[in-house]
Amino acid sequence: MSAQSDLIHVFNGIPFTTRSSAELLRSLDTFKAREDDILLVSYPKSGTHWLAEIMKHLYSTKVSLTSPIEFGEVSKLEEMNKITSRRIIPTHLNYDMLPKDFKAKKCKAIYIIRNPKDTAVSLYYYYKDNPNLPTIDMWSIYFNMFLQGEVVCGSWFDHILSWEGHRNEMGPLFLYYESMKEDPFKAVKKISCYLGININDNEIHEICKKTSFAEMKTNVEKENNDPTHTVCSLTSNKKLIFRKGIVGEWRHYFTNKQNRLFDDLYNTKMDSSRLAKHIHYGN
Ligand code: A3P
Repeated sequence: MSAQSDLIHVFNGIPFTTRSSAELLRSLDTFKAREDDILLVSYPKSGTHWLAEIMKHLYSTKVSLTSPIEFGEVSKLEEMNKITSRRIIPTHLNYDMLPKDFKAKKCKAIYIIRNPKDTAVSLYYYYKDNPNLPTIDMWSIYFNMFLQGEVVCGSWFDHILSWEGHRNEMGPLFLYYESMKEDPFKAVKKISCYLGININDNEIHEICKKTSFAEMKTNVEKENNDPTHTVCSLTSNKKLIFRKGIVGEWRHYFTNKQNRLFDDLYNTKMDSSRLAKHIHYGN
């Protein structure tokens, strides 16, 4: 692993990239939320860009999709104040670090969950390809880091548990990546119902078409990268996002032993999680 210390700092026990300044992270609780803010919440590599694209189509030009709340310097909070339109705000923060005012104002939040084994593989490639993350040479080393929560944004288990543990406070909508892949129509309908958006079936079909993996990947190849439109605090390079977009890739990476280790930890940590019971791993 190279230059880990230059790229990563630990805040509240969680590894962040230096693209999230410590001062910003310390100041998050001073952020003034608005009642109509919408949060897009995820552990990295769970389909955040997909969800954001759906949101863009649902609202067309009436909203501002901001960069993640935890991305940048402390001046970021002031910049967010200057946005006059309704804000859609992505974040990889766990519930405990989320600015308090979002909780006080009971802002709408959509949390996208992806099965943690595919998330682990996707994040592994992010570590390999993303210059903002330390280099990792071996899957086996990375696998243990993921299990221990020593990767950027910390433990997948703790992240989801922190949001599930407080689900009654803000009433977030939880979506599953795998269910969205299986039935995108149903997912878009669910999102629009949660947000109170009136939309007909044809419009939903149109959104599904425009936000398919193939369509999004092709579009990003044509676009110039615009750092203001990234929804992941770990990169501004959208081309790093659209890799395979499939369910079940983990089977090509996990050894039997790793799978057992993973399942043991999963069963211990997620025993009381209702959300975990609905996660699909693909065939
Ligand atoms: P893979 O690395 O497995 O391909 P995030 O947006 O949270 O960073 O998540 C990125 C993952 O979501 C990547 O997974 C990416 O390919 C996948 N993804 C992005 N857009 C998608 C879409 N429209 N449909 C399905 N998967 C998508």
